[in-house]
Amino acid sequence: MVNNLEAQDSWTSGLQNNYGTPSISLTNGTGASVWDVEGNQYLDFLGGIATNILGHAHPKIVAAISEQASKLGHVSNLYSHPRALELAQKLNSLTGQKSARTFFCNSGAEANEAAFKLSRLTGRTKIVSTIGSFHGRTMGALSLTGQSAKQEPFKPLLKKIKFIPYNDLVAAKRAINKRVAMVIVEPIQGENGVVVPDFGYLRALRDLTSKHGVLLALDCVQTGMGRTGEWFGYEKEGIVPDIITLAKGLGGGLPLGAMIAIGDYATYFEPGSHGSTFGGNPIACASALAAISVLEEDGLLARNAALELTLKLELSKSAIVESVRGSGLLLGIVLKNPVAKQFVSQLQTGGVLANATSDSVIRIAPPLVVTDQQITDFIKTFREVAITHER
Ligand SMILES: Cc1ncc(COP(=O)(O)O)c(C=O)c1O
Repeated sequence: MVNNLEAQDSWTSGLQNNYGTPSISLTNGTGASVWDVEGNQYLDFLGGIATNILGHAHPKIVAAISEQASKLGHVSNLYSHPRALELAQKLNSLTGQKSARTFFCNSGAEANEAAFKLSRLTGRTKIVSTIGSFHGRTMGALSLTGQSAKQEPFKPLLKKIKFIPYNDLVAAKRAINKRVAMVIVEPIQGENGVVVPDFGYLRALRDLTSKHGVLLALDCVQTGMGRTGEWFGYEKEGIVPDIITLAKGLGGGLPLGAMIAIGDYATYFEPGSHGSTFGGNPIACASALAAISVLEEDGLLARNAALELTLKLELSKSAIVESVRGSGLLLGIVLKNPVAKQFVSQLQTGGVLANATSDSVIRIAPPLVVTDQQITDFIKTFREVAITHER
């Protein structure tokens, strides 16, 4: 394959149309840079949608994966292996809760499915989720997802799920009671356009759920693993959730998900309750361990706050920008006009990858290893495109 047009043809003749046909086909990358089949270089400010936490081909991830692949690529869940044990201990310790126990799976949807199933073991069946949320595409996770366009074609979905407006405590108070098994919520609604709730919202949800003995599950799939400058994205609220779900950045670019349960909930699953053939695969776990150690050793979480400030300040200077919201390196650039899709395609022509979550919001989620120079380059390209909308 030598060009992007051929790649498009090959896609339409070989793959189902659930994503639409991508305009470019990527072959390789390093750090926050990627190249397509024609040799064009792009600044990857989407990072596999908040997934390539250390960018592309990070040497420590490459080494960890290669070493693990040369030793043990897969075992069934009938045996343990050191990488899953180490990773579970590490994730549990990052929660700061001794009682935390991890279940490994392969994706965000699977992590939320596991949370959903665990919530059934409380003996209650009602769930509260939020409007605009995204929890995945499998039938259970889709049932939890507060976006009717995604749900509609696949109905009937699972029942007894109440959707309340995000960041609305009056609605939360009305919905949360002793009949509810689980409240599931994202610390920031990523897919919905990086919507940030008021400070205190998660704490209030914690108080309400604790009062009624309701499980609080925080879907940290997109906010987790340092992206917001914290490990999971809820820590500044000073709360302890009952369940944390993770995926995306967790595997350092490999498929890995986790459902961490805390307190009594950590022992709800018993042999036979749940499982996954590939969940906690040794290579994916080795990659995750390498990613976490680089994030720690290179102080990448602390650096996020400064980059967030720079990006918010500089991007807000363009007249077309209404606001820049989000935390760390998960930002939504809200435009005054509904031109986000066109804007993103102009960015791509200018050598920058980002995505539009709606007609007026551009999401950026670059790798945490993005260099200062690359931040400057992004701002420059963004401004060049912004100017074309301001004439
Ligand atoms: C908050 C959140 N939860 C769950 C998911 C689903 O993850 P996956 O695509 O790995 O199933 C996503 C994916 O975008 C997400 O952002």
